[in-house]
Amino acid sequence: MQYTVELEATIQDMVQKGRGVLAADESAPTIAKRFKAIDVESTEENRRYWRSLLVTTPGLGDYISGIILFEETLDQNTEQRQTIPEAAWAQKIVPGIKVDKGKIPLALSPGDLITQGLDGLAQRLQAYKDQGARFAKWREVYTIEKHVPSLHGIEANAEMLARYAAVCQEEGLVPIVEPEVLMDGDHDIARHTEVTEKVQHAVFHALHRHNVVLELMILKPNMVLPGKDCRRASPEEVASETLKVLRRTVPAAVPSINFLSGGQTSEEATDNLNAINQAGSDAPWCLTISYGRALQQSALHAWEGNADNKEAAQQALLERARLNHLAMLGEYKPEMEGG
Ligand code: 13P
Repeated sequence: MQYTVELEATIQDMVQKGRGVLAADESAPTIAKRFKAIDVESTEENRRYWRSLLVTTPGLGDYISGIILFEETLDQNTEQRQTIPEAAWAQKIVPGIKVDKGKIPLALSPGDLITQGLDGLAQRLQAYKDQGARFAKWREVYTIEKHVPSLHGIEANAEMLARYAAVCQEEGLVPIVEPEVLMDGDHDIARHTEVTEKVQHAVFHALHRHNVVLELMILKPNMVLPGKDCRRASPEEVASETLKVLRRTVPAAVPSINFLSGGQTSEEATDNLNAINQAGSDAPWCLTISYGRALQQSALHAWEGNADNKEAAQQALLERARLNHLAMLGEYKPEMEGG
C-alpha cells in the first residue's frame, strides 16, 4: 500500500486516550432540520458560521482529535480567513469528510437500506485530500423490524463498507467504518444485541475479504440499547451488552471504537460511554466518541442563530466535550451536569 506512513500518522493524531471525534457532517436536509428546531434558516452563510464557530472553540483540541465535515465546509473560511480544515488543524483536530451519498431502499429487499456513493469515489477522495481531509466516513443504516435487516441486506451493506474502506486506504485517507443499527422501534435490548452482532460479524468478514488493514481504520458503531419505544436500560446494562458484542466481533487490531450517539440525549450518551469505559478498562481498543447531536445539541440551543451568543455556544460545546473526555476515562458522574 502506497500511503501506509501517512495513514499511520493520521491514526496517531486521532487516537489518543481522552480525545474523540466531533461529527459535524450533517447533510443539507439534516442540518436544515437541526436549524429549524432553533428557528434558523439553513443558508450557506449560516452553515458556514455554525461550523466555523464549532471548530474555532478555544480549547476544543484538548478533548477532540478529529472533526467530520460535509463537502461544502471544506473550502469555507472562518472569520480569521483560514479554511475550516486549517482552523481545525490549528488546534490539532484532524479534518475529515463524510463521503457517502446517503441511503436508499435496497432493491427487492423490503425494509433493507443501502448507501450510495462508490462510483468515482477515488477521484473524489483525491480532491478532498487536496482540500485538507485526512480521513473519511461512510454510514450504512439498519432498521429493526420482525424480518429486517435480512441476511442478504446485512451482507450487501457489509460489502459496501468494505469496498469504501479499501478505496480510502488506497488513496491515503483513514476510513471511519460506520454500521448504524438504529434504535427506532419497540424492540428490547436483546434484539438490538442480536442484530448488532450479526452486522459487525458481516462487516469484519467483508473488511478481511477486501484486504482492509484493520490497524489503519476506525470503527463507528451504535451502542447496544433498547428501542426508543421500549423501557430504558441502565448504563451498566448498555455497557455490558455493547462490550459483549464488540468483544465477539471486533478484532483487537482495530485501534479505536468511536460510538455514534444515535438519538440518545447528550447526558445519556455521556453516561453510557462512561459505563462502557469503566466496564471495558481492559479492552484492546480506545473506547471513545464520534458524536454529532450529543455534542452539538446544547451549543445549538445556546447559539439560536445569534452572533451575540457565540461565546455561550462555544462554552456549551466545550463543556459537553469535557464531560465526554471524563467519560472516556471512566471518571464522569451525572452530578457533574449543569455545573
Ligand atoms: P449522531 O451522534 O448524532 O448519531 O451523529 C453521528 C453521525 O455522524 C451519524 O452518521
